[in-house]
Amino acid sequence: RLKVIAIDGPSASGKGTVAARVANVLNRDYLDSGALYRLTALYARQQHINWQDESGVAVLAKNLPVIFHNECILLDSKDVTAEIRAEDIGMGASAVAALPAVRDALLQRQRNFLTSKGLVADGRDMATVVFPQAELKIFLTASATVRAQRRALQFGIANNGIEYQQILTDIEKRDQTDRTRLVAPLKPACDAKILDTSLLTIEESVEKVLDWYRK
Ligand code: C5P
Repeated sequence: RLKVIAIDGPSASGKGTVAARVANVLNRDYLDSGALYRLTALYARQQHINWQDESGVAVLAKNLPVIFHNECILLDSKDVTAEIRAEDIGMGASAVAALPAVRDALLQRQRNFLTSKGLVADGRDMATVVFPQAELKIFLTASATVRAQRRALQFGIANNGIEYQQILTDIEKRDQTDRTRLVAPLKPACDAKILDTSLLTIEESVEKVLDWYRK
């Protein structure tokens, strides 16, 4: 077993927040694997490489000039922490993440985040592909409407109206892409614990993960 807690799930499920807090409590490193796919999509756009160009994007993924520094992410020495969170970059991440050569190019980089300190890793395939020997595997979900509401709250958008509808549509579209792709589709590992957070607060979700960890 590896000293890794793997937390996978669909977009806006809250897995990033939960994973970061669990890492903090246990004094472990935290890997936001989605950021690597987002960085790859952004870097491809900057270099004028099409998101469908598998070999072109894979070369960029392999050589990402990225530095994770505290809460900041630097790409080519430029702070892109906020920029990679945009929804079009999320869609781009989902597009490049469907390309096998890109996933291969990022595999070792993700594994390198594990040190003797231990790791909490969040993504789509942490338990199934990157760390199949993880000591604890969680599949964190919430209903699409709850996820859309959380995202809307983040952006200060009301829970009705056209902007909210757009968020909901985007979330469902990205999930559909992630679930139906041929490589590393989004799905729980056979030995994952399923945590539906639709009715839970962040604190309750964190506690649940820590409960499982301590058992
Ligand atoms: O988690 P986040 O929304 O930042 O991830 C962006 C996209 O990157 C996801 O929609 C997914 O397609 C891809 N991804 C992935 N495998 C991971 C993490 C993210 O395919 N481990």
